[in-house]
Amino acid sequence: MSVLPFLRIYAPLNAVLAAPGLLAVAGLTIPDISGRSRLALTAVLVVVWGAYLLQMAATLLKRRAGDVRDRTPAITIDVLAVLVPLAAFLLIGTSDWSLYCGVWLLKPLRDSTFFPVLGRVLANEARNLIGVTTLFGVVLFGVALAAYVIERDIQPEKFGSIPQAMWWAVVTLSTTGYGDEIPQSFAGRVLSGAVMMSGIGIFALWAGILATGFAQEVRRGDFVRNWQLVAAVPLFQKLGPAALVEIVSALRPRTVPAGAVICRSGEPGDRMFFVVEGRVSVAAPKPVELGPGAFFGEMALITGEPRMATVSAATAVSLLSLHSSDFQMLCSSSPEIAEIIRTTALERRGAAQPSA
Ligand code: CMP
Repeated sequence: MSVLPFLRIYAPLNAVLAAPGLLAVAGLTIPDISGRSRLALTAVLVVVWGAYLLQMAATLLKRRAGDVRDRTPAITIDVLAVLVPLAAFLLIGTSDWSLYCGVWLLKPLRDSTFFPVLGRVLANEARNLIGVTTLFGVVLFGVALAAYVIERDIQPEKFGSIPQAMWWAVVTLSTTGYGDEIPQSFAGRVLSGAVMMSGIGIFALWAGILATGFAQEVRRGDFVRNWQLVAAVPLFQKLGPAALVEIVSALRPRTVPAGAVICRSGEPGDRMFFVVEGRVSVAAPKPVELGPGAFFGEMALITGEPRMATVSAATAVSLLSLHSSDFQMLCSSSPEIAEIIRTTALERRGAAQPSA
């Protein structure tokens, strides 16, 4: 039997283990900590290190077995988490070795899905970010120069050179304002006000670029996922490329556990649903089950009347929902699909009428 399942320390445990480890590192820097507490904190470090040693072994064994799912950064982090504290212990002894366990800060990043997204955002927005950073550098140098010219005779000890004035410029431009260097002259104070205002503008630009980059990245991810889901609904194959792109952006994916109610009879309805995977049951007078490719909830959109039946998930089900405003867009871009939906709705309505 393989030992790998026992050796494997799962992804969330990386972050969970790093927390006590790093708290122990912080605790050991408190000067007047008692000997017993110091021993307990060191024991925490040893336990965490041992767990990371097991994980490194598991990662390397998997790699040797040809499983390349663990990427190079993950393996590097696993190896550093073990070797850096070990090397520190062997080379500098027990005095400050615990500080090198600070390398465990990398562990929560190991399996994070956020950082690859951040990397893509930075790569996509590199040109704009470099532009704003250049602007920051230009403004920084310009205001440090101006402050030097204005204040050098009044406060030579603080503004006696451009590098000295640059500290004031960074603190003011970032609107941090430590208050250790303050212009005394009227002109210097006017300059301070202008620097603060431009600092707010520059940071707003950075924040705006990053926020837009993240929004675009999330939208792109949603689009790719929706595109794959839409392929499972044959009805959409009748759409041309432009309408398909529009519908992919309009559809919202949703998963529903078995037994959950998706829409209830008598409620107003503002969206219809397409079944991608799984089955739903419609509590019509003659109950029916709908499977992949089918749609429901269209009647409320067509007639504006409340839902005719309660629909619940017969199995765990993956759905795409379409809001009523986007439903109108779908109908106008594809009369063929509109006709199929209307005909189906009419048939269902007919089935719901009590037979004479
Ligand atoms: P709506 O009335 O908006 O919400 C409930 C949905 O159940 C309804 O739209 C139809 O899509 C679906 N439905 C109602 N009756 C039937 C039926 N006999 N067969 C299949 N689906 C139905």
